[in-house]
Parts: sequence; C-alpha cells; structure tokens
Amino acid sequence: MKALFLAGGYGTRLRPFTFTKPKPLIDFANEPIILHQIKALHAVGVRTIVLAVNYQPSEMRKFAKEVKKELDIEIKFSLETEPLGTGGPLKLAEEYLKGNEPFFVLNSDVICDFPFADMLEYHKKNKSEGTILATKVEDPSRYGVIVHQENGKIERFVEKPQEFVGDRINAGIYILNPSVLDTIPLRWTSLEREIFPKLAKEEKIYCYHLNGFWMDVGKPGDFILGSTLYLKFISSQIKESKKVKIHGGVLIEGEDIQGAVLVPKEGRKGVQIGENCRIGPNVVIGKNVRIGNGCRLKNCTIMDGVVIGQSSYIENSIIGWGSHIGSWTRIQSHCFLGEDVTVRDECNINSLTVCPHKGVNQNIMKETIML
Ligand code: GTP
Ligand code: GTP
Repeated sequence: MKALFLAGGYGTRLRPFTFTKPKPLIDFANEPIILHQIKALHAVGVRTIVLAVNYQPSEMRKFAKEVKKELDIEIKFSLETEPLGTGGPLKLAEEYLKGNEPFFVLNSDVICDFPFADMLEYHKKNKSEGTILATKVEDPSRYGVIVHQENGKIERFVEKPQEFVGDRINAGIYILNPSVLDTIPLRWTSLEREIFPKLAKEEKIYCYHLNGFWMDVGKPGDFILGSTLYLKFISSQIKESKKVKIHGGVLIEGEDIQGAVLVPKEGRKGVQIGENCRIGPNVVIGKNVRIGNGCRLKNCTIMDGVVIGQSSYIENSIIGWGSHIGSWTRIQSHCFLGEDVTVRDECNINSLTVCPHKGVNQNIMKETIML
C-alpha cells in the first residue's frame, strides 16, 4: 500500500523550532513527528511513501535515506514549485498513487495511536470513495467539524463553527480511492474545503471515529499538550500490560523521577541527571542532555544536546537543540527556546519565545518574542 504525506507547509506556527528544521522532522518524544507516522503505516503493510514537499528538500532527503536503511520502504519525493495546498499535491503525485488500491493521506503534524488497520477495514466495508479519521475535542470551534449520520456517512463540514454543530473534527488522516484523484485539479486546492464537501454531497465519504488521544502538534503549546497526552497514553498501556512500542526511547524510573519521563534508548547512560533533581511528570529528554544538581523539570521537552546548570526550574516549556540554560533559572508558562539559545544564570522567564542563537540576559515576565 501507499501513503502520501502533506509535508510542504511552512510550519510558521511552530516557530522558533521550524527555523531550524522542517516541521515533519521536529523531534516529538525524541523521534521526528513524521517517523511516528511512517512506522505505524509500515506496521500495516505500507511500503511506498510519497513526501509532498516544496521547501528544504535536502534535509528531507537525508532523512528519507536513513529511513530507507532502517525500514524496508520506498520513499518518493513529489516536489512542488509553488504551494499547492492540501489537495493539489495529490494530483501532482498522481503517477505514484494511481492503481487499484486505496492510499493513505496524512497531515505531517498529527500524533495519536494510529488506528490504520481498523480504519482500512472500515473503508473497505463501506465501499466509499474516502474515509476521514475523526476525533472528539472539547473545543471544536478551532477546527473543521464533521456533521455525519449514525452510520458514519458524512453530510457536511463546518469550518471553525461559532455555534455547536458537533464535536467530531477532521483529524488530518484520510484513506482515499484513486478515483478521487480525478476530482482534483492541478492547482492550489484545499482537500478540506473543496474536495471533501463535494464527495459529501455525492454521499461518497465516511468518517471513522478515533478512540483515544489525538493532537495536532503544529503549535508549540499544542506540542507540549500532545507530548503529555502521548506519555500518559504510553504509561497507561504499560500499566495495563498492553503491548506498546515506544520508538523514541525508554521511560525511566527512580527516586528522582515522577510519572512519565522519556529518555533516549540508552536509558540513564544516554543523559546526565545530577543529584537531588526531581524530574517529571511528562518530560522528554533528548540525546546528550546534561542536567545539573537540584533541577526541577515538569511538562517539558528538552531537545538533544541541551545543558542545564544547577538548581534550575523548567515547566511547560520547550528547550531547543543545544541550548545552554544557566544555574538558578526559572523558565515557565510556555517558554519556547529555539536552537542554541543561552539563558544567563538566575534569569526568570515567562511565556517567552526566543529565536535560534539568541541570548537571554534579564528577567522577562510578560509574553514576549525575542527575534
Ligand atoms: P503553518 O504555517 O504553521 O500554518 O503550518 P502549515 O503550513 O504546515 O499548515 P497546516 O498545519 O494547516 O497544514 C496542514 C498539513 O498540510 C501540514 O502537514 C502541511 O505540511 C501540509 N501543507 C500545507 N500547505 C501545503 C502545500 O502547499 N503543499 C504541501 N505539499 N503540503 C502542504
Ligand atoms: P487528568 O485529570 O490527569 O486526565 O488531566 P487533565 O484534566 O489535565 O486532562 P488531560 O491531560 O487529559 O487534558 C488536558 C487538556 O487536553 C484538556 O483541555 C482536554 O480537553 C484536552 N485533551 C484531552 N485529551 C485530548 C485529545 O486527545 N486531543 C486533544 N486535542 N485535546 C485533548
């Protein structure tokens, strides 16, 4: 089977991290977001991946080479010379996708317990042209809501509804028959706003309900929430003795650990955690991270190569690759530090976004972006 990834967006909302890497390659729980998806697709027999991209293809190519080495999978690039939206890229890649089999389409920034096998069975059973993965959210007004019949047949879509019409939203993962390609023009086209509504009118598209967690991690705040949901999911599976594959590392335990803390595969050997620290819950620590004595970390992601001085406090924040955090710092309430940022000793920062290679030398207590 085949799968196409919509991986050509600019990822502006995931700045400052997308200044360094294309969004699909940002590490989520210590592994590129898109690799979580590729491994789950591989497990249900997908052997051809099409990456629809329009910028930074060289890094993506390097990534593709590594994945090909690790998994028995073919990776093709479909390169746009101008953005084609979420529909146009499928038409551009038509030669790779056409055939007798349905194919998967994925936004490259969604994380969940991918239900690909069940979704495929559902798609085949309905004999529909398309199946959209749907998930329930508390605040549907931020998303595209799906209005559907009891059997899952979609009636219509409402984008960012101001009045309650339902709480099932489009989760950004689809199965489509090759015949859908005939309905897509080769220009900037929106799958969600043009192609799917047309299929709904013709009663040819269904939704499959996802049970369990889901998150679009395309914004830093949602990325943190997504990491928490993912780690909670992994821990609950382990507690219930269910089989679960953690691709990006291992959960560690110890007197200094509270709740779920994910470190690289090598376990404690892969990171340095000083004495008298308290780490967790919901912390992801990348490769070669060094944490000084007496630090307190919770609900945060510390990316590869970060060094943290002693007695620092980090909460609800993301610390980008190779950053240097001084001693006695306090970093909280959605601080997003890009690659190679330095925070001076004793700085107290709140809701601060910092672009790569910058230094923070003073306390900053209100929401600020440091360019
Ligand atoms: P923002 O700039 O932060 O809005 O991110 P984004 O551009 O990635 O937008 P969004 O999250 O809405 O996009 C949904 C999915 O479609 C993502 O996986 C994008 O990579 C992808 N996407 C958006 N526009 C294009 C495009 O023009 N071409 C391709 N190939 N993919 C796209
Ligand atoms: P617990 O009591 O331990 O479950 O924690 P909590 O009340 O903080 O809830 P949880 O961590 O499950 O969720 C925090 C926020 O995330 C809430 O606003 C939920 O509405 C939202 N949320 C929960 N699950 C999901 C999900 O799967 N997807 C999305 N997008 N949001 C979710």
